[in-house]
Amino acid sequence: MTISEPSRESVSQAKQRCIEPKCGASYGLNERVYVCKSCGSLLDLELNVEQAFDANSLRSLWRERLQSLELRDRSGVWRYRELLPFANDAPIVSLNEGNTPLYDAPRCADYCALDSLLLKHQGCNPTGSFKDTGMTTAVTQARILGVRLLVCASTGNTSASLAAYAARAGLLCAIMVPEGQVSHAKLAQSLDYGAKVLEIEGNFDACMRAMRELAEDESIYLVNSINPFRIEGQKTVAAELAEQLNWQMPDHLVVPGGNLGNSSAFGKGLWELRELGLIDRLPQISVIQAEGAAPFAHLFARRASAALEENAAADFVATEHPTTLASAIKIGAPVSWQKAWRAVRQSGGCVLSVTEQQIADAKAIIGSDGVGCEPASATTVAGIKKLVAEGKIRSGQTVVAILTGHILKDPDYVTKYHLGKLFEDGEGEERRNNGSFANHPVRVKADRQSIMKVLDQLKY
Ligand code: F0G
Repeated sequence: MTISEPSRESVSQAKQRCIEPKCGASYGLNERVYVCKSCGSLLDLELNVEQAFDANSLRSLWRERLQSLELRDRSGVWRYRELLPFANDAPIVSLNEGNTPLYDAPRCADYCALDSLLLKHQGCNPTGSFKDTGMTTAVTQARILGVRLLVCASTGNTSASLAAYAARAGLLCAIMVPEGQVSHAKLAQSLDYGAKVLEIEGNFDACMRAMRELAEDESIYLVNSINPFRIEGQKTVAAELAEQLNWQMPDHLVVPGGNLGNSSAFGKGLWELRELGLIDRLPQISVIQAEGAAPFAHLFARRASAALEENAAADFVATEHPTTLASAIKIGAPVSWQKAWRAVRQSGGCVLSVTEQQIADAKAIIGSDGVGCEPASATTVAGIKKLVAEGKIRSGQTVVAILTGHILKDPDYVTKYHLGKLFEDGEGEERRNNGSFANHPVRVKADRQSIMKVLDQLKY
């Protein structure tokens, strides 16, 4: 069966649909709405795929595109464009995102008491985080809409990504970040890509609130993950992962949770792959948060006990003063929690939190596999270790952890850990850093004998 590219006609059937089943209101693709005008819930993109796709033909088409020299075919997002609400002639804005590695991580597996563990490293995207896979589609949509100014609230990665893609598209952008709470490396990226950087007094949630007010202005386009076009790009990572695994899904997929766009995107992506017959089962999607910024984990725990006690369902309560050194996920009021809840429930996964020490140690272990990541990503390995200890993951099961950001995104954190000074500023749950896997630098005189004395003591 040959597959024709998504045409303007087929794409024009797609809609933005309210996720609340009792409402179900729909909006055209080019209506600038972020939440449902009737009930305020989030929106999903619903593709009306007229053509019955044949799974094998799709798989071969996607594989063949890797031979092409065209960016549209080589991008790890646009390569899967049959899954996206864009016509074939869409004016795409791409930095060749996606195509990220899937690493075998034996030391992480040992640490978690698993037979094996795979790490999908989304930090290997053009701006060093998973945000690029959604930014390419959101900024492309902005171009289609003829928007002049793009904005986002961010803990640093969304902003770096937006700044790069807006620069690429020749569009203006402004980013709002919580003053003094974003790593220097991330801020440096946004400055270099030419974004207008607004440092806001308050935390990420305050930035997000201000941003949502601002987005009521028609001339401004908001590209946080509340924007469903972001989720569409991010969901293609599910297809890339499935392809890397020869379309055999793992038992568990473990994702860090902040604003909860990424877990929502995996939920949607995997669900659609199963609907299209490309995979035959969903992995259990589990979301891991940092203990001091864990409103979603609290919701999961409350709903689990409410179900046991047959009480009315517990509702979401934001964390007013979120704290964690994993600054990317220092978020108390995640905008996409309903979609992430759907992903966890549909797949039978769970949500839990891990301590600052567990995150820091897991990060060092990921480093010891030669992979490395930023702190927020290490919640996954810390969470997997906990899930194995609790018997929710068995040692022989297949597990994929999603690493979301590159190790160089937060070098201060890394050096402080290895110097045993990570918790000295008091943001963590304790002021002490056990630094169980710390790798101290040593001062040595510049002569052969002194250097050899140190080298002789090295052991693996
Ligand atoms: N990991 C990293 C490295 C992140 O930057 C983020 C979110 C997350 C995990 C959580 O993903 O929000 O989809 O649940 N960073 C956002 C930002 C909030 O502004 O860069 P999520």
